[in-house]
Amino acid sequence: MLIEDFKLEKWIRKYENITKYDISQTCVQPFSLKELEEFCGEEADLKTVKLGYGSVFGTENLKAAICNLYENANHENITVTLGGIGANQLALRTFINNGDKVVCVVPCYQQIYTLPNTYGAEVVLTDIEYLEKDAIDAKLICLVNPNNPTGTNLSELEVSRIIEIARKNGAYLFVDEAYRGLNHDGNPYSKSFFDLYEKTIVTGSMSKAYSLAGLRLGWIVANEKFINEVNTNRDYNTLSISAIDDAVATLALKNHEKIVKRNVKILNDNKKIVKEFLNKIRYSWIEPNAGTICCINYNSKLNSSDFCEKIVKDTGVLLVPATVFDCAKEHFFRIGLGMDSTLMQTGLNKLVDYILNDIS
Ligand SMILES: Cc1ncc(COP(=O)(O)O)c(C=O)c1O
Repeated sequence: MLIEDFKLEKWIRKYENITKYDISQTCVQPFSLKELEEFCGEEADLKTVKLGYGSVFGTENLKAAICNLYENANHENITVTLGGIGANQLALRTFINNGDKVVCVVPCYQQIYTLPNTYGAEVVLTDIEYLEKDAIDAKLICLVNPNNPTGTNLSELEVSRIIEIARKNGAYLFVDEAYRGLNHDGNPYSKSFFDLYEKTIVTGSMSKAYSLAGLRLGWIVANEKFINEVNTNRDYNTLSISAIDDAVATLALKNHEKIVKRNVKILNDNKKIVKEFLNKIRYSWIEPNAGTICCINYNSKLNSSDFCEKIVKDTGVLLVPATVFDCAKEHFFRIGLGMDSTLMQTGLNKLVDYILNDIS
């Protein structure tokens, strides 16, 4: 089966060897196991974890910890996967049949529109403004919330409009909530779409809000019937997840409030550094309010991939161009907000010097 390039992944891999200042990352200062245990004041007790297949769909302890992130989820509503990317793949593979109409609100993470297309769906990319018209006869509406690449949450009004549109069309919603838990102000957790509309499939991940991308652990939350169908597919590509990952994720999720508090502080501190950068360089941004990334609007004649390529080659600073998100809005690049603040400051200082002197 031929599949389109995952442009974001290709972009990062192309430049990772010449990158000295990677300010493109989506993770918030990842924990080592030692740091996580110290931070939680508790051990994951990995020495006693039996390294058999263990609980194939995730241990009951892990599922209980995941249930706590939702108002209405029970163990039967959850299956544990190989990362958020595995959750998206399994859910979409299970849901989509040849010829289904699938509408994706863009810009967003490419996986959620390229996979439906690969599985034979008729995929319509749309903007929230045109969703009502484009969603007519859709079987599935796909979203990423909080959004990658914009780092913004849908407003309450947008959420209710989307649900109304889905309901009117009898459509399911598929919402990638990998960045949920990282609202920058107020309660870090917005309500999950799972708790708002009965025909919803959501995916989650340990990678972003919980700083544990190295675990490769994610999950799907949906109605029990759909989870059973997913598990039939899952037998063919996952079997079970790592027992070690399960134990570490359980420890982290038991302490999720403390972890997201740490992470929101890191994100807000780095946002101040980005604001200073924007003032110096007189660029604007889509002000982020959730998640680990943001999009900056630059001034140059160059399109975003030429602009970012020139920057990484000449300065070693890695950015992500809007082109990899098939964005209608050009002249944007994405940066992360979760890295070590010294790296962020150094990378942005290099950019200021370079942009003011060398690039036009
Ligand atoms: C929106 C979104 N979903 C899913 C993923 C996959 O993350 P992981 O497989 O590490 O959970 C990413 C990674 O960047 C992402 O941005």
